[in-house]
Amino acid sequence: MNLDQEERMMAEGEFGPVVQDAIEILIKLGEIYEAEKMVKVTSIHMPGSSVMVAGEGGTRFVKQQTDRGGRFVIQTSLNPAAMDFRRWQEMGVPLAIVSMQRQLTKAYSQMGAVAHHTCVPYLVGNVPRLGEHVAWGESSAIVFANSVLGARTNREGGPSALASALTGRTPLYGLHLGENRVGKVLVHLQVKLTTAFDYGILGYFVGKICGDKVPVFRAIPREAGVDELKMLGAALATSGAVALFHAIGVTPEALTDEQAFGGKEPEDSLTFGEKEYDQTVDFLTTAKNDYLNLVVVGCPHSSIEEIRSIAQLLADKKINPEVDFWVCTPLVAKVIADRMGYTQIIEQSGAKLICDTCPVLAPMDEIIKAKGYTSLTTNSAKLAHYAAGKFSLPVYFGSLSRCLRAAMTGKWN
Ligand code: F3S
Repeated sequence: MNLDQEERMMAEGEFGPVVQDAIEILIKLGEIYEAEKMVKVTSIHMPGSSVMVAGEGGTRFVKQQTDRGGRFVIQTSLNPAAMDFRRWQEMGVPLAIVSMQRQLTKAYSQMGAVAHHTCVPYLVGNVPRLGEHVAWGESSAIVFANSVLGARTNREGGPSALASALTGRTPLYGLHLGENRVGKVLVHLQVKLTTAFDYGILGYFVGKICGDKVPVFRAIPREAGVDELKMLGAALATSGAVALFHAIGVTPEALTDEQAFGGKEPEDSLTFGEKEYDQTVDFLTTAKNDYLNLVVVGCPHSSIEEIRSIAQLLADKKINPEVDFWVCTPLVAKVIADRMGYTQIIEQSGAKLICDTCPVLAPMDEIIKAKGYTSLTTNSAKLAHYAAGKFSLPVYFGSLSRCLRAAMTGKWN
């Protein structure tokens, strides 16, 4: 690889052994992907921020980098942790996991990461602009950064994101290059998309077919907002490995058809209509006995607007006492919700704002055992997918308002 003078100095150890090791990792990665050179990155979003992903080995490794003097040279945010730092006892998280998570968060913070612990860094201040190169992990955040913000990132894993945070570099390959960002599959919409839930269903259907190809959506409404597009991206990256999508007239690299496809014809096309919508909902609804005891919304983490909608729907209502209702959200959104009175409304109903974590990155097997959960109800296609596959809970999958109704009655139908 062609290294600039600063990168050569890093490789020669002029910036210390931690930086030297980090640039070595990136050089090896670049060689694997035949990158010609490095590119400077402006921000990091760190996967492996939960001890459920990092494990004991990863936690030890991060602590070692801190103890050796490693310091992050660019803005770095953290993905969700294994628990809500205030409510871990209520959640049923074992103390051993809490202790390890505290050590991991402390080590990242000492190196300079902002300990938000959320999968929506773009809602809490890590907001790269169009064309900026970044090194992000977390599939739902990556697809949002590439597609909605127009920033450029590959799908980073823990070691490469850590190495980029320590050096401010990443190898220039994959989605950092314009030629790999053109659309491949045209998606015709024959369904009116109204709620964020609808966007998740669309994303789940399309991701399954597209794999890692770049889909281009025609007829996504211009008024589609952050909440809808984050649900779309998260689902695309769950059933497939989509890291970038375009929505013509909506996302910044697809103002026209020509721009979306780089002046070429799409390689393929597919249609999403009523039949595909219903099939996807049926596929993700695996529970059958009508009885529910855990409802989770906020996957990806809820914005303050979503919290406001939930507060409106729950005002003067009561969640069934047999049901735990989690609204997963960044800590920053909760602080705003406290000030606006939404937290009080939500918690008076019996629901809980859960910060810093989510079921997929928490020790769910232990939590299920401690709390006796027998199913999971959600409006998120991503969470429905993982609940059924990763921790084997039958799933009720429906819109936010249906999830709320079910939480109040304790029954799905
Ligand atoms: Fe975020 Fe966890 Fe869902 S990381 S996208 S809330 S699975």
